[in-house]
Amino acid sequence: MQSAICLFVLAALGVASHKTLAQDIPAPVFEVSLQEPAATRWTEPVTYVIETYGFDDSFQHALDYMFQIVPEKTLKKLEPLLEKLEAVFPAQYAEEIDGIHGVLASLGYEDRISKGELAVVNLIYELTVFCTSIVSRAPGGEIVHGRNLDYGITGLQNLTATINFLDSSGSPLFSSSSFVGYVGVLTGMNSQFSVSVDQREMVDQEDTTAAAGMVKNLVSAASGGSSVGMFLRDQLEQGKSFADTLEAVTKERMIAPVYIMMGGLGGDEAAVVTRDRVGEDEENGVWTIDEDNYWRLETNYDHWIDVPSDDNRRDPVNACMAAAGEGGVSVEAVRACLSEPPVLNKGTIYTTLMSAKEGYYDTIVRDPELV
Ligand SMILES: *[C@@H]1O[C@H](CO)[C@@H](O)[C@H](O)[C@H]1NC(C)=O
Repeated sequence: MQSAICLFVLAALGVASHKTLAQDIPAPVFEVSLQEPAATRWTEPVTYVIETYGFDDSFQHALDYMFQIVPEKTLKKLEPLLEKLEAVFPAQYAEEIDGIHGVLASLGYEDRISKGELAVVNLIYELTVFCTSIVSRAPGGEIVHGRNLDYGITGLQNLTATINFLDSSGSPLFSSSSFVGYVGVLTGMNSQFSVSVDQREMVDQEDTTAAAGMVKNLVSAASGGSSVGMFLRDQLEQGKSFADTLEAVTKERMIAPVYIMMGGLGGDEAAVVTRDRVGEDEENGVWTIDEDNYWRLETNYDHWIDVPSDDNRRDPVNACMAAAGEGGVSVEAVRACLSEPPVLNKGTIYTTLMSAKEGYYDTIVRDPELV
């Protein structure tokens, strides 16, 4: 199952080479205040999406995506379970999902999406993120972190937004690239670090099919594993240092095996973390940049094994980063490496570039018609 592809690049800021891309559409930006009750936090972005695009061209695509991933039989079993949001999600997130469903209901779409379906949607995104990653460094030392996020079907563009989360005093706390309706964070940045997550393809005996992997993920959720997106949002909210956050990222018990990419403020603070459900991979858990390697690339396959020949996004991106050179790495250079086929493709929903030290955060929505 290649349901989703995303691409992360961690690089260091360097010489800029500007390149305007035909498919650049800035993501709309919203503020979500954590001071507000969880139930009403998402009213503005949800209302905007519905009023701008209508339900069919926004939330319906998320539902279509879900139906494609979760077999109907499984969904039927899950839905009543997930109606009890607070049994599965931490309180704040259960209340937010409940609130989002309430906004959709008040706008007249209660029949189109149930609370259980919205809950499944919240689990699906992070279980099906199929990605590539690079970590890199340039002489200036600043870290640039970029990613493409692709899914197997188009249509999530109209749900894509940059969310600036505000703390209880109204100050900016962290930013994320979100699909409105999803309360976790798959791509985000605060003043200490940037982070992004991608799916780890586990081709072992137990996870031979997508359905088998999904069932294991849900069992893991039920037995106390954290939702990756909610865990990362918690980390961004707490705002600890790169090192402390990295340690938490290696240890937390999570629903699914994933790669988590982190960029810090400088030095060698750029890493690809390879995880199973319990914690970091025992031998190759944390892969950082170092003196000799100014970038690291991660696709959906463990970095120490070959990628399958029918999904080689590794070599083109490595070649692009090598061509940029250690002195040529910049936000623009990394964005350019994320903008060439097959890395940019019809499934690409958005491209985000981040640099925590520079306070740089930019998300562009990709138009599939232009690829
Ligand atoms: C976004 O919404 C518009 C309608 O406002 C629609 O024409 C377009 O196809 C939608 N885009 C996607 C990718 O679904």
